[in-house]
Amino acid sequence: MIDVQHIRKDFPILNRIVNGKPLIYFDNAATSQTPQQVIDVIVDYYSNYNANIHRGVHSLSQEATDAYEQARIKIQKHFNAKHPHEIIYTSGTTDSINLVANGFSSLLKKDDEIIVSALEHHSNIVPWQMLCERTGASLKVIPMNEEGELILSDFDALLNDHTKLVFVNHISNALGTINSIEYIIDEAHKVGAAVLVDGAQSCPHIKPDVQALDVDFYVCSAHKLCGPTGVGMLYGKEDWLNKLPPYQGGGEMIAEVSFEKTTYAALPHKFEAGTPNICGGIAFGAAIDYMNSIGFDNIAKYEHELLEYATEQLQKIEGLKIYGTAKEKTSVISFNVGNIHPYDIGTILDKMGIAVRTGHHCAQPIMDFYNIPGTVRASFMFYNTKKEIDTFIVALKKAVMMLS
Ligand code: ALA
Repeated sequence: MIDVQHIRKDFPILNRIVNGKPLIYFDNAATSQTPQQVIDVIVDYYSNYNANIHRGVHSLSQEATDAYEQARIKIQKHFNAKHPHEIIYTSGTTDSINLVANGFSSLLKKDDEIIVSALEHHSNIVPWQMLCERTGASLKVIPMNEEGELILSDFDALLNDHTKLVFVNHISNALGTINSIEYIIDEAHKVGAAVLVDGAQSCPHIKPDVQALDVDFYVCSAHKLCGPTGVGMLYGKEDWLNKLPPYQGGGEMIAEVSFEKTTYAALPHKFEAGTPNICGGIAFGAAIDYMNSIGFDNIAKYEHELLEYATEQLQKIEGLKIYGTAKEKTSVISFNVGNIHPYDIGTILDKMGIAVRTGHHCAQPIMDFYNIPGTVRASFMFYNTKKEIDTFIVALKKAVMMLS
C-alpha cells in the first residue's frame, strides 16, 4: 500500500510554488524528482568524502571507492545480474546505447540486419543508423498499430539468419506502451540475434530480472528512478562485454600502457575510462534503495490507479484524443485536444503551476505515424495524487476554453 501523503514529505520540490500555484509535476517520464534520502547522500559525499576512486591509498579515496563499488552491487542485485562486473556505469541510457553500438562496429558486416521498433526514442534509432552507415548492415523496423502496440507477427517475419541485433524499449516514452520484451527476446534468440532492451522508461515502474529475461543488454538512467542526472548503467552479459572492444580510451580502462602497446583492464573498468560520476553512482544506489523501500509492486498498483483515473477524466473532455491505448501500458498519457497546438496547452498549464511535456518527445516516427506534430504528455509517479489529477483536469478545461 502506498501512503502517498507520507511519501510526498520525502520530496522537497513538491512544496514549490510555480507561477503562484502549488507545483503539480506531471513530467516524470522526462525526469523524476529526487527524495531527501538521495539528496542527503549527495550532500554527504561532497561534505565528507569527495575524492577520486580506484587510485588513492588515502582514506577518503578508499571510502569513495567502497561506496561507489557498493552502489554497483546494489544495482547488480536490483536487476539480478549474475556478476557486479556486468554492470557498467555510464552517463545515462544514451551513453549506454552508444557504447554497445560502437562496440558492434567491429562485429557486424554488410548484409547483416538490425531490427528496431517503431516505438523507439531517437536515442534507440540514431546510434543504430550510424552503426549501419559504418558497417553496411541494414535497419528493419517492427511496425506499430493504431493503439501503439508493436505488431509481433511482423516482427516474426523480419527475423532471419542475417538478423544480428534487436533493439526495443521496454516501455515507450511517448505512449506508455509496455512491450512484450519476453517474446521479442525469445524469438530473437532463436535466430541467434542479441537483444538490447532500453529500460529508461521501465526502470521507475518495473523491476526487471535480467537473468530470467535472458536479455543480452539492458540500459537505463538513474534520473528516471529518483536518482541524479548524468549517471546510468549498461547491463551486459559477461560474454558479450568481453567480446565488445572498449568504447573510450583513457585512464582507468587500461592494464598496462606503453607507446608500443596498451592492454585493457578487466570488466567493468574496460568500459569506464576517466574519472566517473562518483557521487552520481553512489546516489544511483541510494535511489534504488529508496524505490525498493516503497516496493515496485506497490508502485505499479498505485500508478495504474492514477493512469485509469486520469484516462477516465480526460476522456470526458470533448475533442480530446489519447494516443497510445495499448492493453499493457504504464502511467503515461499522450493527448491532443482538437486542433489546438500542444505547446499552447503546455504553456497555459505551466501558468497554472502544472508541468507537462509537449512536443514530439524525441520520437518523431511515432508522431509521423499519427500524422501529428506532437502531443501533450502527462506522466505520473507514485508521489502524484488523484487530487492533483482533478486540478489538472480543471486547468486543462480552462486552457481549452481559452484556446478554442
Ligand atoms: N526521453 C525523455 C522523455 O521522454 C527525456 O521526456
